[in-house]
Amino acid sequence: MRAMRIHGYGGPDVIVADEVPRPVPGDGELLVRVAATAFNPSEVGLRRGLLREVLPIGFPYTLGWDVSGTVVSAGAGFAAGNPVVGRLDAGGAAADYVVAPAGALVGLPPGVPVAAAAALPVAGLTAMQAVADLRAGQRVLVNGAGGAVGWFAVQLAKRAGAHVVATASARTAATVARSGADEIIDHTTTPLDGVGADVLLHLAPAAAPVGAVRPGGAIVSATGPVVAPPSVRSTHFVVAADPRRLAELVALVAAGELRIEIAATRPLTDLPAVHQDAEGDRLRGKVLLVPA
Ligand SMILES: NC(=O)c1ccc[n+]([C@@H]2O[C@H](COP(=O)([O-])OP(=O)(O)OC[C@H]3O[C@@H](n4cnc5c(N)ncnc54)[C@H](OP(=O)(O)O)[C@@H]3O)[C@@H](O)[C@H]2O)c1
Repeated sequence: MRAMRIHGYGGPDVIVADEVPRPVPGDGELLVRVAATAFNPSEVGLRRGLLREVLPIGFPYTLGWDVSGTVVSAGAGFAAGNPVVGRLDAGGAAADYVVAPAGALVGLPPGVPVAAAAALPVAGLTAMQAVADLRAGQRVLVNGAGGAVGWFAVQLAKRAGAHVVATASARTAATVARSGADEIIDHTTTPLDGVGADVLLHLAPAAAPVGAVRPGGAIVSATGPVVAPPSVRSTHFVVAADPRRLAELVALVAAGELRIEIAATRPLTDLPAVHQDAEGDRLRGKVLLVPA
């Protein structure tokens, strides 16, 4: 089978399509035939070696934290052929098959498209964590609303009863217009200082618009610590793998209450080109990679 592996840190060309034996599941593990993995921007940092302190890896390393697919042989309450989704801490999903801890996998009910479900784990869980403390009636600015995380964050903030102000440049305006946001501001042409947000969800790889938050408000950042005035509470977080929360996201999708947006679907072997596009700032939103 093919696996998109890196044999050392470096540029996009360190990602190689290797022919490797199909992995064999051990105790508590399942073999999954991959329907899709999803690209996440943090994998650029991983591949370049910028995360080596926080996320040490060995080589060769197969990329891919998000997986959706079908269980190959029964075990741990899953039947052969069951569609599943999961977030794999050890990566490995950028391949034809991957071995996954059974506890990391969530079954997909009918009505949830299997490949598209790979958009959910990292991006959906990050959005869910970002909105966790929102309260109904709050004015919430989602910075980066047109991104993979932002797309879910807008919908989940609306479900929490917030009034959502979303940022979108011309590149993401059409996507954000479909997200359900109450107001949309083009951050490239309009200052955000007057927004008066109770909460800023900072989900963009850019300087946080700290001035958009009212005194006494809060900043929740997924992209690193944000320095704020003393009157503004500023926190940042790293997404946690949480199958229970992932199951909640899956249930929302199945019920038609959370929509998945796919920006592009590309062949698995395009992964080096996807990384190149990410480094060239040419990607927005969720890109799926599917084995041929
Ligand atoms: N903490 C964690 O555990 C965690 C987990 C997942 C992701 N992340 C991080 O969260 C960020 C978003 O991830 P993603 O997958 O959603 O990325 P993405 O799909 O590439 O989206 C990035 C978003 O940022 C917007 N943006 C870019 N420059 C901006 C600026 N100057 N001001 C406002 N918005 C700007 C983009 O839209 P426009 O170009 O239209 O502005 C786009 O909506 C990334 O930095 C990623 O590494 C962190």
